Amino acid sequence: MIKVEKRYSNLANDFLFKTVAEKRNKMSERFDDIIDLSIGDVKLPLSRSVVEKCKEASDEMAKIETFRGYSPNGGYSFLKDKIRKEYESGNISINNDEIFISDGTKSDISNILDLFSSDNTSLIPDPVYPVYVDTCIMKGINITYIDCNEDNNFLPLPDGRVADIIYICSPNNPTGAAYTKDELSKWVDYANYNKSVILYDAAYEAFISDEKYCRSIFEIEGSRTCAIEFKSFSKSAGFTGMRCGYTVVPKELVFEDMNINKMWTRRHATKFNGVPYIIQRAAEESLSYEGERECRKALNYYRENAKMISKTLQSISVKFFGGENSPYIWMKCPFGMKSWEFFDYLLSELRIVGVPGVGFGKNGEYFFRLSCFNLKDNIRVACERLKKLGDVKS
Ligand code: MLT
Repeated sequence: MIKVEKRYSNLANDFLFKTVAEKRNKMSERFDDIIDLSIGDVKLPLSRSVVEKCKEASDEMAKIETFRGYSPNGGYSFLKDKIRKEYESGNISINNDEIFISDGTKSDISNILDLFSSDNTSLIPDPVYPVYVDTCIMKGINITYIDCNEDNNFLPLPDGRVADIIYICSPNNPTGAAYTKDELSKWVDYANYNKSVILYDAAYEAFISDEKYCRSIFEIEGSRTCAIEFKSFSKSAGFTGMRCGYTVVPKELVFEDMNINKMWTRRHATKFNGVPYIIQRAAEESLSYEGERECRKALNYYRENAKMISKTLQSISVKFFGGENSPYIWMKCPFGMKSWEFFDYLLSELRIVGVPGVGFGKNGEYFFRLSCFNLKDNIRVACERLKKLGDVKS
């Protein structure tokens, strides 16, 4: 008889964002003015130059001379060249065969566990993007949690505990906290010392505007022997629906005489047939001069939204983290409410949807995540409604 993977029964009943969406949808049956600040899904359309590039690439697919079938393993060099040059502009040197184009960070940071034995232990911050936890559970990897809280400004540093796989997301989802070079160096030294690997999720790097924060773990000396970096076009170019990202696996990454870059190359060739040509062309365009200019405009739009929410919370004396160098505002639930309690209150009384902090881990209890990914007019209305929390408080 077929045997099933029993570890799935150790997962939480539902994926956090699905539960949130279901509650939102239920309330939407009664109200048509609900403002969704929950999942970090972009709302602005693709930039004009990216759309033009998609059309051009579609036309190429319509002609026998320019039609393309399977993508080369790991992605097209036209896109890898652009990504490599982006790194070079930050004085980081990587090779094209260290870049792997994928359909996004979520898939790659999950799939990378194929390369590591389930005998490993992982160190996961709490609170955290639930995908890291779920995929470790699916694989049977033992998890140790490291506390992120107000005492360490949601930026934990190595505390002497040893683990094989270390998850770091900076700027952080959900707390918005970001590591400086000095802080990240401590993690790199720790990983090299213990022969651990750092899975570095830089999906929100485009939101960094303050130079003191790292945009890539490869800014740190020694990182090429211990880190894998995951990046995405989802937030930087509005590609949540297009699906494109990339993973950088340095060739120096060798554990137990096995070269991780070679292993990932092999895994890619076996299990992944690549991102569609049209999407890769679109991603390439988002890194062109004009594409970057337009994407920057969209990023600034969302940054202004984050500022508006932050100012509103300040005006009613609600404590929060993030909102700068990050699309997420990590607020303390007012009135000492627990996070799901505040979720229900906000949804029913103010018709705003966010994400309860406890959904990201136990340390998220009494916190709540708001996203800045919405249209400015909606953010304005949401802020007016949030001000009412101040009336109730006083
Ligand atoms: C989030 O809201 O945490 C993210 O958008 C989810 C994701 O990227 O999968």
